[in-house]
Amino acid sequence: MAEFAVVGKRVPRVDAVEKVTGRARYTADLHLPGMLIGMFLRSPYAHARILSIDTSEAEKLPGVHAVITQKSLADMLMVTEDEVHGTRRVQKFFADEKVRYYGEKIAAVAAETREIAEEAIARIKVEYEPLPAVVDVRDAVKEGAPIINEDSKVVTLPDGRKLYNVAAEVHGAEGAFVRAEGDTRTDEEIEREAFKDADLIFENTYIIHRAHQSYIEPQIAIADVDPTGKVTVWTSTQGHFAVRSNLAKSLNIPLSKINVIGMTIGGGFGAKFGGIVDTYAVLLAMKAKRPVKVAYTRREEFLDATPAPGAVITVKTGVKRDGTIVARKAFALWDTGVASGGSYATRRLKGVYNIPNFKFDSYDINTNKPKPGAYRAPGAPQASFASEVQLDEIAHALGMDPAELRLKNMREGDQLAFKEVLRKTCDAAGWWTRTKGPNEGWGLACGEWTNGAGPASAVVSLHEDGSVHVFYGLMDLTGTDTACAQIAAEVLGVPYEKVRIVRGDTDSAPYGTASGGSVVTFSYGNAVKRAAEEVRKRVLEMAAEALEANPDDLEIANEKVFVRGNPDSAITLAQIAQSAVRSTSGPIVGHGSFANEPSAQTVAVQIAKVRVDPETGNVQVLAYWNGLDCGKAINPMAVEGQMEGGVVQGIGWGLFEHMLYAPDGRMLNPGLLDYRLPTALDVPKIESILVEEPTRHGPFGVKGVGEPPITPGLAVMSNAIFDATGVRVREAPITPERLVMAILAQQRGNGKAD
Ligand code: MOS
Repeated sequence: MAEFAVVGKRVPRVDAVEKVTGRARYTADLHLPGMLIGMFLRSPYAHARILSIDTSEAEKLPGVHAVITQKSLADMLMVTEDEVHGTRRVQKFFADEKVRYYGEKIAAVAAETREIAEEAIARIKVEYEPLPAVVDVRDAVKEGAPIINEDSKVVTLPDGRKLYNVAAEVHGAEGAFVRAEGDTRTDEEIEREAFKDADLIFENTYIIHRAHQSYIEPQIAIADVDPTGKVTVWTSTQGHFAVRSNLAKSLNIPLSKINVIGMTIGGGFGAKFGGIVDTYAVLLAMKAKRPVKVAYTRREEFLDATPAPGAVITVKTGVKRDGTIVARKAFALWDTGVASGGSYATRRLKGVYNIPNFKFDSYDINTNKPKPGAYRAPGAPQASFASEVQLDEIAHALGMDPAELRLKNMREGDQLAFKEVLRKTCDAAGWWTRTKGPNEGWGLACGEWTNGAGPASAVVSLHEDGSVHVFYGLMDLTGTDTACAQIAAEVLGVPYEKVRIVRGDTDSAPYGTASGGSVVTFSYGNAVKRAAEEVRKRVLEMAAEALEANPDDLEIANEKVFVRGNPDSAITLAQIAQSAVRSTSGPIVGHGSFANEPSAQTVAVQIAKVRVDPETGNVQVLAYWNGLDCGKAINPMAVEGQMEGGVVQGIGWGLFEHMLYAPDGRMLNPGLLDYRLPTALDVPKIESILVEEPTRHGPFGVKGVGEPPITPGLAVMSNAIFDATGVRVREAPITPERLVMAILAQQRGNGKAD
């Protein structure tokens, strides 16, 4: 591959200084004149009928400027139905006839101070008639379970079993599982056919609990509505255009009357595409006729945001004695709370392997919990836990090395580097010659993802000092502005420091997709590259004229255009920019747009060494290796940052993070004291192994790197703990309590981990 001047270099982030000095401006830092504080009244029950709501005492309180309930919004179209990164959001703004989860919004107020708002909330009177709640999907599907949504389905399975509270179902079949037209065989016969070449069949159930994305900055938005109805929103979002379209649809406001300003964001991981607080800020601002800030507390994050769904996944896999996978069938119940969306991720149980016969049946099940949403590679960590823990079980049962079993079954092909990443990660970890002390163990697992692509556009301009300005609507969460600056610098032959990145609001910037789905460097990188190439073309044309040369004979480097082989015959980019301003064709501006071109699948291979304290169940992660095919690392430091972040979240979900609910539906740990996140003490040195197998449509071969690194970590933890203890835990997170119980159960000889 060609040597690059800026691409592939570890340049510091464009926002490094503003971040480390605290100068970066977050939404919470903004204070508008006359601004009010918005707050919510939330349900103290997980399931109850609402008999009455009386807001009159709250409205009388001095300093209160708006009180709203579902009923008071009845004259507006108040249904959100929006496809947001795979999460379908269909919900009323407030509970009116029934509450279906603990902490559901019943009313909102806007007041001059937080204290007045709290007092107003306390004065709203609600009469409830409590109903029985259900929080575990395995209970929710049973006959007699409370029905949460009247429009949910009852599904009868082929074996006659009935599933209640089904919000949606997704099925998929490949190979022998596909039923031909007119095929009269029973499901059982088809299944027997698919598994007929298997020497051994494994069937296990895996449980993954709900986890919160736990971005540092809670949801926040400020809204202002002017007398003409023009809405302005300042918000912490992954995509201000997504916020704009969500507001337009859910509040029935024309797009052109909404401007969304994306502020610096303190993490999103899938939960900041809009709809959680911004719509409420706008509603309150409309009613109060003053700007309103709505900021979630950490407790509200846990009660009423969009965490990752839990799942119960039963996997049946047939293998030959040599480890070849013959068939796999998965049956999954996803805990999608009061909503639906998520279970399609069950298809990911195919992973990076050749599985000739594959089938999944997947159900979104309603429980009395808030709707879930996207969390970094939505559904993949859960699916990967089931898939990769079972592969580990199969390897041990066959007496095969877990890495060998995977190598045997991994797919190969154009733009894929699965085996190379596995081998290199094993080599870096010393996997093949690994040793361990007492209570120590090694775990390996693979995750996968294919970055999305989205519409993106950018404007690149050349200024009189030879500096390059990139203008677009990209929300930078992860260092993508830096990558785009590197791409522009590379194309235009300027130092990275001479590129300025300018983010526009939705009124000014050209349209672009939200920052999610690992799309950003792939999609915006292409848009910036194309825009810079247009600038480059103009620059070469003008230089050719000035130097009396053919444009094809020119090169750009070090801010100069020169005739190839004759560096003395040169003109600077600054001179070209200046003469363009004076020329009849005007200043130099390039435009770039990108649409939906496909990328190739990438693999994340991770290995951990752990030590378990069998008395306390505490797991210490001693070392971690983390391999990824990133296509092309525009900035290896930023790629490693993404990889390390994903590893930490995988360790967190694998060992600690669990949203706990009482049987009556109350959430038991809605705060960071009781919802245990990994800290620096829990995370060892992480070694990252970058493999670069370019993908055809990515700029310079880029594959998206944001999501894949979270996918294998949960399984890595279970597999390492098994190696250390001989105890197989099929439920994540493997908290100390869960592990001690599993160890005790094993000692008692019943051998069941869960
Ligand atoms: Mo996402 S889950 O923000 O790609």
